[in-house]
Amino acid sequence: MSLKLAIFASGRGSNMRAILQSIADGYLDASVAVAVCNEEGAGALKIAREFGVTSICLPHSGMKRREHEEKVLAALKDFDIDFIVLAGYMRILSPAFLKSFKDPAGYFRVINIHPSLLPAFPGVDAYKDAFEAGVEVSGITVHLVDEEVDHGPILAQAEFARLPGDTLDSFRARGLAVEHQLYPKVLQQIAREGVRVTPRGSVTA
Ligand code: GRF
Repeated sequence: MSLKLAIFASGRGSNMRAILQSIADGYLDASVAVAVCNEEGAGALKIAREFGVTSICLPHSGMKRREHEEKVLAALKDFDIDFIVLAGYMRILSPAFLKSFKDPAGYFRVINIHPSLLPAFPGVDAYKDAFEAGVEVSGITVHLVDEEVDHGPILAQAEFARLPGDTLDSFRARGLAVEHQLYPKVLQQIAREGVRVTPRGSVTA
């Protein structure tokens, strides 16, 4: 089925761009009904505009989490979306928010991309953490979101190597290129077959 998505982003938006470009190229059978951003001036907002996607900016500063989430939920009411796709959205979603997206199959219809082979290196700067730990192989994880941070059923993982002479920047750039391939690929897999959860830790992409 063609997926109707809301993309949530806070920053640069390169994953948002990869998803929108995949749709434009006819690779991904989906539409982005709305882009939600919590930071004014974020690159993601410009990218949404460039692709003609409705965007909503809801800054969170000075607001309690629940108050902000109520605003986000109210904004989403007009769009009958299948999945929320988190693409560098730097806010933790509360269990109460997630409940609004509970699928009858038991999972939340919220997907995230994280730049490590979870469960290794959860947290806000996984590239740096993995690089500084001296890993030889790192990777990217796309997973369903649950009540814990950078946790939840894994949909796919893809590895990339740390090469001799890598700097954190070159390591990060290699990983980001993998992200841009993996996210549209997993979304297209969901469009084709629905959600398929593989056992935690297995590499399927
Ligand atoms: C990506 O590295 C993603 O894995 C992480 O946040 C970053 C967002 O980058 N969750 P961008 O805004 O998509 O360029």
